[in-house]
Amino acid sequence: MAGMIPLVDVKAQWEEVKEEVLSGWNEVLETCNLFLGPNVQAFEQEFASFCGVKFAKGIASGTDALTLALKAVGVEGKEVILPSLTFFATAEAVVMAGGIPVFAEIEEKNYCISPEDVERKITDKTRAVIVVHLYGHPAPVEKIKEIIGEREIYIIEDSAQAHGSRRDGKITGGMGNIAAFSFYISKNLSALGEAGCITTNSRELADRIELLRNHGQVSKYEHILIGTNSRLDELQAVVLRAKLKRLEEWNEKRQRIAQFYLQELKDLPVILPEIESGCTHTWHLFVVRTERRDGLFDYLRKKGIGCGIHYKVPCHLQPPMREYGYKEGMLPLTERITQEVLSLPIYPHLKEEDAGRVVEEIRRFFNG
Ligand SMILES: Cc1ncc(COP(=O)(O)O)c(C=O)c1O
Repeated sequence: MAGMIPLVDVKAQWEEVKEEVLSGWNEVLETCNLFLGPNVQAFEQEFASFCGVKFAKGIASGTDALTLALKAVGVEGKEVILPSLTFFATAEAVVMAGGIPVFAEIEEKNYCISPEDVERKITDKTRAVIVVHLYGHPAPVEKIKEIIGEREIYIIEDSAQAHGSRRDGKITGGMGNIAAFSFYISKNLSALGEAGCITTNSRELADRIELLRNHGQVSKYEHILIGTNSRLDELQAVVLRAKLKRLEEWNEKRQRIAQFYLQELKDLPVILPEIESGCTHTWHLFVVRTERRDGLFDYLRKKGIGCGIHYKVPCHLQPPMREYGYKEGMLPLTERITQEVLSLPIYPHLKEEDAGRVVEEIRRFFNG
């Protein structure tokens, strides 16, 4: 059998940044200045500039970034509207911050939260809406802003899957009031361990995040609020700085692979992802849909092709969400889509011949 093609491969990325990272790590280790030091500060500036925002604050993970962003806007005892088709951390963060998760439907054309359903779900208790730029497609933030109007409801971007995605010229991280990024190893921008970041244009929110990530500490052992330990460390900041320089180029490589799949799969009985007009997709995941999803998944796996399902069970049907009264049938489109989605291998260093083999095997599956 030909070699394995994994769903994600970060080894080639490592080869590209290795020299720079090892030399940066050496400097950090020589000084032993390990937390919130010069590399974190430099990365925060560089990432803020990349996202076109005033502030970026390094955080220990994407989950923490979401939780702290929710805490900073104050959702305790309030409702937070969010999509159910997302990684569970989005919903978990709402609960961790003391909020009540209110799940909304998605739009079939981009798999992101439906503005119409957000409108239906807003109540007097709504404090925030989380938009998830799912799979790398930017969510319709402007439409949601129009719906919110003058009400005091915050828009929080879950940008974990969309570093560099754009809609009508605006880049993720600066579309709403505050945004959370994950730098988990599989992400378009990834650390070599756990890491995340919060971006915002609000000085007030940025100052609050700075306190929340470091025990509410204003000076050594002086604490003015209950925070947590969620600092970004210098070793991860070195990695992120090296990779951020290459992010646009790596996103372009993902775009070329996506175009290849879109072209080569168009005559097959799969529903292909769409790119809404005015949007730049960064293809964190390339997700196709078919009613024969499970069969195709097993077939590709047997042929040595890694694939994934994002996500098999929507958040509102996960057991911990039962206490909020969620059950099957409440979000029919989301539920149907979770039965059909299949993620194909995509990463900047995926070889053309390997993408070709993925297409060939999908063709064989459908043509018997
Ligand atoms: C949409 C989404 N939100 C949140 C997270 C959580 O990020 P982390 O794994 O860095 O905690 C992830 C990724 O894992 C994600 O894909």
